[in-house]
Amino acid sequence: MLKRGRRGFLKDLAMMGAGVAAGSQLTGCRTFFAPGAKGSAIMGAHYAPLDKVRIGIIGVGARGGGAVHRLINVPGAEIVAISDLYSDRAENHAKWLQSKGRPMPKLYAGTPDAWKGLCDSDEVNLVYITTPWKLHTPMALYAMRAGKHAVSEVPIAVTIDECWELVETAEKEQRHCMMLENCCYGESEMFALMLCRNGVLGELVHGEGAYLHNLADYKMSRTGYQGMWRLEFSKEHDGNPYPTHGLGPICQYMNINRGDKMDYLVSVSSGQFGLTEFARDHFGAEDERTRWEYKLGDQNTTVIRTNRGRTIMVQHNTTNERPYSRINLIQGTKGILSDYPLRVALAPNSHSWMKDEDLAQLMKKYCHPLWDKSGEMAKKVGGHGGMDFLMDLRLCHCLTNGLPLDIDVYDSVLWSSLVPLTERSVLKRGQSVDVPDFTRGAWRTAKPLGIVGV
Ligand SMILES: NC(=O)c1ccc[n+]([C@@H]2O[C@H](COP(=O)([O-])OP(=O)(O)OC[C@H]3O[C@@H](n4cnc5c(N)ncnc54)[C@H](O)[C@@H]3O)[C@@H](O)[C@H]2O)c1
Repeated sequence: MLKRGRRGFLKDLAMMGAGVAAGSQLTGCRTFFAPGAKGSAIMGAHYAPLDKVRIGIIGVGARGGGAVHRLINVPGAEIVAISDLYSDRAENHAKWLQSKGRPMPKLYAGTPDAWKGLCDSDEVNLVYITTPWKLHTPMALYAMRAGKHAVSEVPIAVTIDECWELVETAEKEQRHCMMLENCCYGESEMFALMLCRNGVLGELVHGEGAYLHNLADYKMSRTGYQGMWRLEFSKEHDGNPYPTHGLGPICQYMNINRGDKMDYLVSVSSGQFGLTEFARDHFGAEDERTRWEYKLGDQNTTVIRTNRGRTIMVQHNTTNERPYSRINLIQGTKGILSDYPLRVALAPNSHSWMKDEDLAQLMKKYCHPLWDKSGEMAKKVGGHGGMDFLMDLRLCHCLTNGLPLDIDVYDSVLWSSLVPLTERSVLKRGQSVDVPDFTRGAWRTAKPLGIVGV
């Protein structure tokens, strides 16, 4: 257990004054500027521009394989190394890269620890993690300690100790640590962000986000997730194990960690019905998947209250029959945006949703610069309608230009901390649970994320 005698905000401020441009000889990523010495808060940190983003990707299953296909379209990026538990997966992706005229990446595959060689390699300057949830933090920590910037699929952490260790390690090593929350780059989400930033919705009051996606068949399949890792997690945990797709964009609308912070949450889960029913219907009563016990309730609902008095509702359901939705709702004093399908209602006509043609005009007026400039290319490359490509594009743009990343370590762990915190509340019959302030007070003065471009 890590000691939690946290450096206080005042101490952080003192250190910020003392620390300047602490040089690191590692991987050519010399610290260019950071707002503090090693070990102090790194909000807004930016490091020396990378001449090229030399990516080592760990885990080339469904998601990592998609990343390989996307990243070859990103200017300034090159995949120089691939790791996977299975050698054939790594080899197949390497061959595919070669078939596209790209240099052969180095392979680190075939054993559970082979990925460490990728992190240690001098050829890599960004470790891109697309493995099962429980491996995200250990891999990101190892990568940062080896001097690499680390980015990881969602959620980046599954315990509160992991969250703190990521913060402390990113601060100590002065490395970027970003969770790859692609939904922050969705077309509707970035349109909503524009409405919020331009005051169109007035003062923000309430948000709703979710991951409502029936994955029962994929979770139960022996050939879906490697080793059925997602089903294993459902056996071990209740609460919301996958909160960040709905939550991340709402936090950006509301400037959470940048002027406001989460104060406390309450979380309640339904019982578990769907997984057992699915297994019985498809595999029979004797199959082990029918007899296993699953702790994860089918439907989890969480409500967060922020220090400024806003509320955020987050839901999770990956088990029951229903259409996909992340809800993506933001309510302000002057209007509301609600997705699935996308609708907007604004004062003084807020008693009904806008007509399609008015909505189209509003979307044109408040199109986010990232979508305006690169949306067409993003749709062509694909990845959840283009948002995955825009995320990679923006990430590599920031790294090659020495800019801060849009999602820093504090955002990454805060959004992920709902995994353990919701479970804690559920197990206490929905009692309120305090949300840790991973910024240790820096949220009060941190500047909101700007309207960014490439
Ligand atoms: N952001 C999104 O939209 C999105 C979509 C799908 C999945 N994901 C996330 O991506 C991650 C991967 O999901 P997936 O669907 O690709 O799962 P998957 O099971 O298809 O792939 C995981 C890969 O990791 C590899 N792996 C496991 N242990 C390893 C080790 N020790 N060393 C190297 N490789 C190892 C496996 O062999 C497999 O190829 C998860 O965190 C998931 O939540 C995100």
